[in-house]
Amino acid sequence: MSKSKLSYVLMLAIVAIFILYIAFVQWIQDPEAAVFLGSKTNLNHPLNKNLWLTVMRVHVVFACIGMVSGAVNFSDRFRRTNRKFHRLNGYWYLVTVMLVGLTSGYMAPYATGGRGVSIAFNVLTMLWPAFTVIAILQIRKKRIQSHQKWMIRSYAYCFTNLTVHLLTSFFQASAGWSYADSYRVSVYMTIPLLYFIAEIVIRMVMKKPQRTFGPT
Ligand code: HEM
Repeated sequence: MSKSKLSYVLMLAIVAIFILYIAFVQWIQDPEAAVFLGSKTNLNHPLNKNLWLTVMRVHVVFACIGMVSGAVNFSDRFRRTNRKFHRLNGYWYLVTVMLVGLTSGYMAPYATGGRGVSIAFNVLTMLWPAFTVIAILQIRKKRIQSHQKWMIRSYAYCFTNLTVHLLTSFFQASAGWSYADSYRVSVYMTIPLLYFIAEIVIRMVMKKPQRTFGPT
């Protein structure tokens, strides 16, 4: 198996395991998000729990759909044999990004960790759709490589929640920080970290022209 195919399969496995984990937490372990909501202290605005839960569920469902839809479009073989599907699926990915962004805009003011975290999420709520729109504008101008680069940058942010939770657990376990402090630092770190990882992926998979990191 080539290196690019292996990376793609690994990414698909991470996406599948993460979605199964999210489904388990949301439907079985903690459907009312009691643990997560319990970690929110000193909120600047009163939180309407039912509305927050509804928005969060919409957020999670479209986030998971977006993760799958984006992953499918990175397959080079699939793109070559199903160009029309690739195009439609690309626009569908944009819709999911917009909906995740919109729901994030509602949840950000109530973010765990306070105002600084709200601002960080608001910045991401603008950056992520912007990267995705740039990617689509690039392909409309037939700039394939630039389209691929911006889609990799956009897709990296599908791993926001996973990265924030991994880093939060790491800081809690290794430094003994509180959940709120660990979460705060993790959100600040995740935004530049995912951009950096996207740049590494771009350099790894785009050494040769016309390659994506899916199966060829
Ligand atoms: C695409 C993959 C994503 C998934 C699967 C996802 C999933 C979730 C989940 C399950 C929650 C509930 C809290 C928790 O248990 O963590 C949540 C909260 C949230 N998400 Fe996402 N999310 C994703 C991407 C994003 C992105 C890209 C943004 C920003 C543009 C974002 C902004 C937020 C905000 C602001 C909250 C509320 C955080 C808080 O209350 O502290 N999410 N997300």
